[in-house]
Amino acid sequence: MPKNVKKIYLDYASTTPVDPRILRVILPYFNKKFGNSMSLYSFGQEAKEALEESRETIASFINAKPNEIIFTGSATESNNLALKGIAFANRKRGNHIIISSIEHHCIMESAKWLKAQGFEVVSLPVNRYGLIDPQDVKKKINKKTILVSIIHASNEIGTIQPIKEIGKICREKGVYFHTDAVQSFGKIPIDVNKMNVDLLSASSHKMYGPKGAACLYVRKGTMIEPILHGGGQESGLRSSTINVPAIVGFAAACKIAKKEMKKEGMRVIKLRDKLIKGVLSKITGSHLNGHPENRLPNNANFWFKGVEGESIIIQLDLLGIAASTGSACSSVKLEPSHVLMAMGLKHEQAHGSLRLTLGRWTKESEIDYLLKVLPGTIKRLREISPFKKSFKF
Ligand SMILES: Cc1ncc(COP(=O)(O)O)c(C=O)c1O
Repeated sequence: MPKNVKKIYLDYASTTPVDPRILRVILPYFNKKFGNSMSLYSFGQEAKEALEESRETIASFINAKPNEIIFTGSATESNNLALKGIAFANRKRGNHIIISSIEHHCIMESAKWLKAQGFEVVSLPVNRYGLIDPQDVKKKINKKTILVSIIHASNEIGTIQPIKEIGKICREKGVYFHTDAVQSFGKIPIDVNKMNVDLLSASSHKMYGPKGAACLYVRKGTMIEPILHGGGQESGLRSSTINVPAIVGFAAACKIAKKEMKKEGMRVIKLRDKLIKGVLSKITGSHLNGHPENRLPNNANFWFKGVEGESIIIQLDLLGIAASTGSACSSVKLEPSHVLMAMGLKHEQAHGSLRLTLGRWTKESEIDYLLKVLPGTIKRLREISPFKKSFKF
């Protein structure tokens, strides 16, 4: 953690602190280079230059062209734009949309809303590791299918999907393919051409950039409509005054990731594997959620027999550790995770889940501390559980 943060933060999938190197780069854009990028005078042109330079940086990070990057305010917005924008621009061609059963809430809710507008939405199942079978995508595509949207890497369990194969199928069938790459962006290599995607969402605050900047990659020639109407910024696809400081920070985050991703990934995998091995060996009745190998470098997700995830989070917080039961957005709802349920976990198993996500400032000593305190925490919670009698340890 940056020096002033004393707690142990193991919730990097929820949001990340801004890297001090990025903070330094963006500060002048708040009060010195603060112009509106649409203004014709020099303040505006300075902001416009920074905006277009950022666009180039982010495009080259994923092997896209600069004019294929549309800046938005959040990945929630990018995902809404992808689904609704494609749906409404292509409804003469068809009304059938395919998603998976483990998408982020912003995809699930957008799809639900589209259903209410008369679109047909099919949700694909996953196996016990949270993996989608590309052949299921192939089987479900019909003449009316206009869009397939599959998350690249799960925000909850970290499982990485076979995006390239799914994209190939969509291309052969002439169907647009969108992937929500919020969790994978900056952690594993992304190449929109190799992955056969037409649309891709990413968010700055998940990769050490500031909140308030995100993008939607839109392949040239894609038929898409805006969901915000106004001044016509971002090629008419996202009207709003441009958040230049946040976008400059997003681009700076991509520059750092490009340089450090490989080495940092290997460092984090080592810590994550130590964490997984430690939890599974020290705590009876603990299970790893998600794919054992094909997962994000920084994600570990468990379920513990006979305990509630929320109780673990509260106990860990008292011990100075920040963790999560699932996605940040769903942690306000006391429903079991739809992702874990889709993988076949029972209600009570899904309720006993703990997500630990590592990041740039995670130290080995922090993993050691967690491994020291977690077994006792689970033991104490099991002792006070009203269901104590129904399981033995
Ligand atoms: C996979 C995924 N998609 C979308 C989002 C939404 O991103 P944002 O916070 O930028 O709206 C998140 C955030 O948790 C996420 O993890």
